[in-house]
Amino acid sequence: MDTYIRSERDEVSKAQVFTYKQLQSATNNFSPLNKIGHGGFGLVYRGVLPDGRLAAVKLMDRQGKQGEREFRVEVDMLTRLHSPYLLDLIGYCADKDYRLLVYSYMANGSLQEHLHSKGKSTLDWGTRILVAFDAAKGLEYLHEYVIPPIIHRDFKSSNILLDEHNDVVLADFGLAKTGADKIAGQPSTRVLGTQGYLAPEYAMTGHLTTKSDVYSYGVVLLELITGRLPVDAKRPPGQNVLVNWALPRLTDREKLAQMVDPYLRSQYNMKELVQVAAIAAMCVQPEPDYRPLITDVVQSLIPLVRQRRMGTPKRSVSSPRCVSSLLKSPTTQSPALKANIKTLQ
Ligand SMILES: Nc1ncnc2c1ncn2[C@@H]1O[C@H](COP(=O)(O)OP(=O)(O)O)[C@@H](O)[C@H]1O
Ligand SMILES: [Mg+2]
Repeated sequence: MDTYIRSERDEVSKAQVFTYKQLQSATNNFSPLNKIGHGGFGLVYRGVLPDGRLAAVKLMDRQGKQGEREFRVEVDMLTRLHSPYLLDLIGYCADKDYRLLVYSYMANGSLQEHLHSKGKSTLDWGTRILVAFDAAKGLEYLHEYVIPPIIHRDFKSSNILLDEHNDVVLADFGLAKTGADKIAGQPSTRVLGTQGYLAPEYAMTGHLTTKSDVYSYGVVLLELITGRLPVDAKRPPGQNVLVNWALPRLTDREKLAQMVDPYLRSQYNMKELVQVAAIAAMCVQPEPDYRPLITDVVQSLIPLVRQRRMGTPKRSVSSPRCVSSLLKSPTTQSPALKANIKTLQ
């Protein structure tokens, strides 16, 4: 089935096609000085395109069918999907054996760098709330506004990118699979994705639903609250896996205050922390049915975001785009999520 976007922007835009030579000169011959990262797809370089635009150029290092398939899925998806909450694909190169993807360059890098890298520039509480909201909006778009829904499958802090205003977009749909891609009625598949973020049912059986993304989203919320890595072998036993360590603490106000990222010190709002922790606790429930829909998460975060977004028209919560999204939302906040937040306050 063709992916059809249920939004006001359902036109299919064309990705630019680049020659290998053009991208070679854009990245100063893939100079190590231009290298900005290395992920599952291959090396990532900063480059200046012939029209002067800054870009992130991903050079695929994997050969064979799997890599080729991912490449085609990525190009196909990204040229069809348009949302202020998703990373734009500018174009691609499929010159001879070379496979490259060209994206808009996100000047402030990934959330992972901000939270976990050595010379990290950490984020204040208000920015973390906005990051959580924008990331939820990105997933909401994939789950609720695309038909059939798209499951991201690799939702994690390194796929949450920030621009110069710290506005957030989601990246990497190379692993994405449409909800309609089913085997024997189930959207089941090989287990891909990243350790520490994988929903237990997906890790164990390969059974994949939008609720697997909601679990990964919960892990990112835990990273935002604690500043800890999802899996950290350097921590003492019992603290290596973030979800296992955090989950029993999330519903205890005292323990919750103790687990906050030390960088934040006391510069956060306790009431908001309790709310975000309650959402995280629901998202990482082992039983997928107990997890909220991402739309419920968006609804729960709106009151926290509204004040902070006043006067920023692009992503104002009350902008026409957001309002129409809310009206179109098929669900309202789940009673379970509401109740959970209430008991904690
Ligand atoms: N569009 C982009 N703008 C800026 N930095 C990017 C962009 N895309 C990727 N990066 C950086 O390159 C790194 C590697 O990206 P990627 O290949 O997607 O692997 P992963 O997401 O597993 O880290 C990211 O963690 C990020 O820091
Ligand atoms: Mg990535």
